[in-house]
Amino acid sequence: MKLLFSLIFFICILKLSLACEGNFNPTTANIGECSKDQTVGWVPAAPEYGTETLKVWTPEELSPQDREMHEQRMAYILAISKQTRRKFVTSIYAQNGTLLCHGVNTGKPNLMTHGEVAAVNNCTSLGITSYTNMTLYTTGEPCTMCASAILWLDFKVVVWGTWNSDLLCKVCMGNIPMDSSYIFSRYYGVRSTPPTLIGGVLRNETDAWFTSYCSNPASVYYVKPKCACYNSTSPLVIQQTASNTWYEGPNNTKYTQYEAKIINNANYAVNNPTFTSSPSGVKPRTVWGLKNEGGDIWTLGYYPVISGNGGSFSFGYISSQEISFKAN
Ligand SMILES: *[C@@H]1O[C@H](CO)[C@@H](O)[C@H](O)[C@H]1NC(C)=O
Ligand SMILES: *[C@@H]1O[C@H](CO)[C@@H](O)[C@H](O)[C@H]1NC(C)=O
Ligand SMILES: *[C@@H]1O[C@H](CO)[C@@H](O)[C@H](O)[C@H]1NC(C)=O
Ligand SMILES: *[C@@H]1O[C@H](CO)[C@@H](O)[C@H](O)[C@H]1NC(C)=O
Ligand SMILES: *[C@@H]1O[C@H](CO)[C@@H](O)[C@H](O)[C@H]1NC(C)=O
Ligand SMILES: *[C@@H]1O[C@H](CO)[C@@H](O)[C@H](O)[C@H]1NC(C)=O
Repeated sequence: MKLLFSLIFFICILKLSLACEGNFNPTTANIGECSKDQTVGWVPAAPEYGTETLKVWTPEELSPQDREMHEQRMAYILAISKQTRRKFVTSIYAQNGTLLCHGVNTGKPNLMTHGEVAAVNNCTSLGITSYTNMTLYTTGEPCTMCASAILWLDFKVVVWGTWNSDLLCKVCMGNIPMDSSYIFSRYYGVRSTPPTLIGGVLRNETDAWFTSYCSNPASVYYVKPKCACYNSTSPLVIQQTASNTWYEGPNNTKYTQYEAKIINNANYAVNNPTFTSSPSGVKPRTVWGLKNEGGDIWTLGYYPVISGNGGSFSFGYISSQEISFKAN
């Protein structure tokens, strides 16, 4: 009897310490790092990049060997794509580089069976149960559904040919209007490190294969694009004025202090802009507000977003020679 009571007591303690059902009261308990009287929200998704999305590497940024490997593997699924006359094909490689399986979006058994889902289902039927550390290739960038699935499955590298934004906005092909990196950047809900993203591999070939449905509204793929247009030249304008001049040092060098303002004329915020200074190689003696990233490249020294509709950011520098900064 005594043993039974102590066992029950032990189970109760265990239950409490494991925070089992019944002892959580949302009106009195603190939630995570927030106290009970605060409202809970999400932390910025990818603060290490100062933006809301993860970096997507492009083929030009890869080493020649890596680029060649990814292009060969993309060429393989593109060939299957042409052979099966289905646009979306996915392949899965083990961490040791072995091709494990592929999958084709045939619209069967239902419309959720995208290439990624078909490939995972195929691999699973071949006995693969864990996708940790694996690499996934797909002819078209993962949609939000597949990006989420890829996070849940713990893939390490995701590689695609054609971009979502091009599929919907330039090719008029139905798609959820969101970059997959927006979903991937929220990796911290399910894994400790972000997956590596590589986009636009053999893009010329995959884009050409997707073709355009814009002039074919009768196609099952057709959707009238609803897209925002951004100028490819930066909407940031930099104004600078000399505020003060003096002579200094044994050679009586003339120094000038410049005050500069970056103004965003667009109606959208600009994230993480970079700037190039000229003449090349000339560095200010002192600078504030901007951060040098090596060479003539500069980024904003603190909060890396300039809001739209005239939002501005101030910086300044002291130099013996005027330096001009241009937004990239
Ligand atoms: C590579 O990894 C896969 C899956 O883990 C395994 O089935 C295969 O035997 C491995 N191949 C080699 C050459 O190690
Ligand atoms: C599944 O993957 C294997 C290995 O790549 C492939 O031979 C097979 O055709 C795939 N099955 C389907 C239905 O795509
Ligand atoms: C994944 O890769 C990491 C780093 O190479 C390794 O430490 C880990 O054991 C791997 N996990 C699995 C399940 O393959
Ligand atoms: C892709 O096509 C563009 C435009 O035709 C061309 O400038 C570019 O060199 C091509 N890229 C590759 C990798 O073939
Ligand atoms: C001053 O000028 C001399 C000769 O041009 C030069 O060697 C020296 O480095 C200069 N000193 C400074 C502080 O710029
Ligand atoms: C974008 O470019 C168009 C011309 O193509 C121009 O009229 C417009 O002012 C530009 N917008 C910004 C914010 O620079």
